[in-house]
Amino acid sequence: MEVAEPITLYQHMESRGVETDLRNLIYSFASIALDAQHHFPKYLRGTLGDKNKYGEAVAKLDEWVNGYLCDNLVKTGLVRKIYSEELREPLLATANPKAPFVVTLDPLDGSSNIITNNAFGSIVGVYKEDLPKKGKELVAAFYKLYGPVNTLVYSTGDGTHEFVKHYDSEGNARFYLLGENLKIPEPGEVFGIGGDPTEWDAKFLKFAKDLFRVERLKVRYCGTFVADFSQILHRGGIFAYPPTKKSPNGKLRLTYEAAPMAFIWEQAGGASWSGKESLLDVSALDVDARTPVYLGNKGLIERLKLALA
Ligand code: F6P
Ligand code: MN
Repeated sequence: MEVAEPITLYQHMESRGVETDLRNLIYSFASIALDAQHHFPKYLRGTLGDKNKYGEAVAKLDEWVNGYLCDNLVKTGLVRKIYSEELREPLLATANPKAPFVVTLDPLDGSSNIITNNAFGSIVGVYKEDLPKKGKELVAAFYKLYGPVNTLVYSTGDGTHEFVKHYDSEGNARFYLLGENLKIPEPGEVFGIGGDPTEWDAKFLKFAKDLFRVERLKVRYCGTFVADFSQILHRGGIFAYPPTKKSPNGKLRLTYEAAPMAFIWEQAGGASWSGKESLLDVSALDVDARTPVYLGNKGLIERLKLALA
């Protein structure tokens, strides 16, 4: 029996009618991220790789990845401004002032997992207009998960689709379709919650205990948002990073993390919640603002709302 040719990321976007500039941006990001990954080993401890001209140890991986992704995103000519979690000020692509997109970037999500060799990722949000904008104004969001296999998940508002890195017959790395129009499984199976439980609100603590006592969900938490998200995307359930006494807005950042991932999540049939509204409806003038994050199967988010009321 002949095996059908696997569908590449580019072919998939063409077949879904993703507009040319956006398609080229997503495809370019996928290639840039693959390339970046080849350099990771040099930057793991700052001791294995080169020293700079002053004889200092090389930059940490997250700083290096940020520079690499930003430089190469600018080179696509498709981006006029980048808001990055690693930059104090947004980067203006002065060579492309009329480029169609403004992007947000969490270049290395889950950096505490670098040293332990566990999964981490990169998250990108794409807007046509400059920020501040609500997440519902995103025209696309995607993430790359650097795990035992490398996956890329994207949405342009027309479902959520997942690809895996593999090699073509000539040895070139490509992203091939793993699943299109992903739907969060019902009932959910797993949950992951960040932050110090002794600092959670009492109502939330009860809700969390009920996740295993009543809902019978299993714990899955690795401390990388992208990887914990991938757990619930494939197995259903709930991920939360709630407020604590010390951090009343939780830990995750609205612009770089919560909004793009909520966009992908809601496109897969899930519900998002900030404690007040969908994460796609939250306004923030400050691009560095944090927000409580709750992403779950619709029924679980409804139960959460009742529990917190
Ligand atoms: O980007 C912040 C982050 O690394 C997320 O990837 C992750 O969900 C969270 O922090 C983990 O935080 P903690 O170490 O408090 O569990
Ligand atoms: Mn992050």
